[in-house]
Amino acid sequence: MKVAVLGYGTVGVGVYEMLKAAKGLEAGPVLVRPGKENEAFKVSSIEKITEDPSVDAVAEVMGGVEPAFTYAMAAIRAGKHFVTSNKALVAAKGVELNRAAKEAGVSFLFSAACGGGVPFLHNLARAAQTDEILSVGGILNGTTNFMLDQMQSTGKDYAAALKEAQELGYAEADPTADVTGLDALRKIMLACAVAWGVLPQDGLLNEGIDSLSAADVKDFMARGRVCRLVASGQRAADGRISAYVEPVLVRAGDAESAVLKNYNMARYEGKNAGPIAMIGQGAGRYPTASAVLRDLSGICAGEAAMFPADCVDGSADNSAAKHAYYVRLPKACGDLFPAAEILADNGEELRILTEEISVQKMHESAAALRKAGHAVFFAAVREA
Ligand SMILES: NC(=O)c1ccc[n+]([C@@H]2O[C@H](COP(=O)([O-])OP(=O)(O)OC[C@H]3O[C@@H](n4cnc5c(N)ncnc54)[C@H](OP(=O)(O)O)[C@@H]3O)[C@@H](O)[C@H]2O)c1
Repeated sequence: MKVAVLGYGTVGVGVYEMLKAAKGLEAGPVLVRPGKENEAFKVSSIEKITEDPSVDAVAEVMGGVEPAFTYAMAAIRAGKHFVTSNKALVAAKGVELNRAAKEAGVSFLFSAACGGGVPFLHNLARAAQTDEILSVGGILNGTTNFMLDQMQSTGKDYAAALKEAQELGYAEADPTADVTGLDALRKIMLACAVAWGVLPQDGLLNEGIDSLSAADVKDFMARGRVCRLVASGQRAADGRISAYVEPVLVRAGDAESAVLKNYNMARYEGKNAGPIAMIGQGAGRYPTASAVLRDLSGICAGEAAMFPADCVDGSADNSAAKHAYYVRLPKACGDLFPAAEILADNGEELRILTEEISVQKMHESAAALRKAGHAVFFAAVREA
């Protein structure tokens, strides 16, 4: 199967190199920007790929929704299989791409868009065909996991941990999507759609780690807790889907606490299979490229789709999901949440453990406090 590659950056170079060595796959043309066609295999017009009858499949690794979506539709309508590592594209346009691929009789796969090198979505898609998936989630952002691990193991503050992540190439120059939880949210959107055939487009909630301080981390450690940024998706008996990202204080012995550096831990729970977790590299040139190549070889073996054929856009509803929360907030706002315990009171700021409250109330209240100019940090507390 001859594969054209769209984009020749971090992941694109890895995909092209791996294609040259892979059994059953052949490297085709690579789309670059005009003026960058400095080698014979590079082209700068999408038509050179969509109108090339020798190209069987297109791997999009450019990023962004446009022009990736326009190129994807052109490739699919030209009868090419389509794989992508681009979570922003699939989160925004996955349902349309899935429908178009089915109509055109080609495959549409996107393993690398959630979990990087971890073969999570692939396994989840298979499990969803034969088991009832109860929940999906886990640590899906390697950049923030690296930062949390650094803050805990070296005592670094947030800014120093971010700087180190950027120097090591884990965080982008603009790290906003990682540190606010948006990147992990896009990934949990994909996992929900694979598991339940609904790609939630609204009602979603994401809280990142950008309000976390070194003093917070020290306090968690003293309480035997480890902070992780966790994505959660769950389907209730009435069919409502909750989907959100937030910091979670896990216990020091919990599986997530052992996920170090920039690793991911993606998990799902099947009614019959029980809980399953997979740990591996969630990003990087070769781990991500290897997931793209696995999709391509899956296509050779007849794999057609990850979303169910009738997958639709829908909404998330986080009003029924509940946790106790650890909250740091101004003392003057202390009665906003039902406190099960006042953990610390320095006269200006409180650290409280709340009673169980809904995820929606917690996220909305924190947003309202910030809008009013107050500093607040919160994390769900895994029950003892
Ligand atoms: N890096 C990772 O570890 C990783 C892991 C999982 C998923 N992903 C996803 O994989 C995708 C690519 O990530 P990356 O890290 O490889 O990004 P990257 O290093 O920025 O590479 C993207 C490449 O695509 C090119 N490109 C963008 N728009 C183009 C266009 N219209 N025409 C031709 N070329 C275009 C860029 O060219 P210019 O440089 O000229 O703009 C760049 O060379 C993203 O969706 C990302 O979310 C990445």
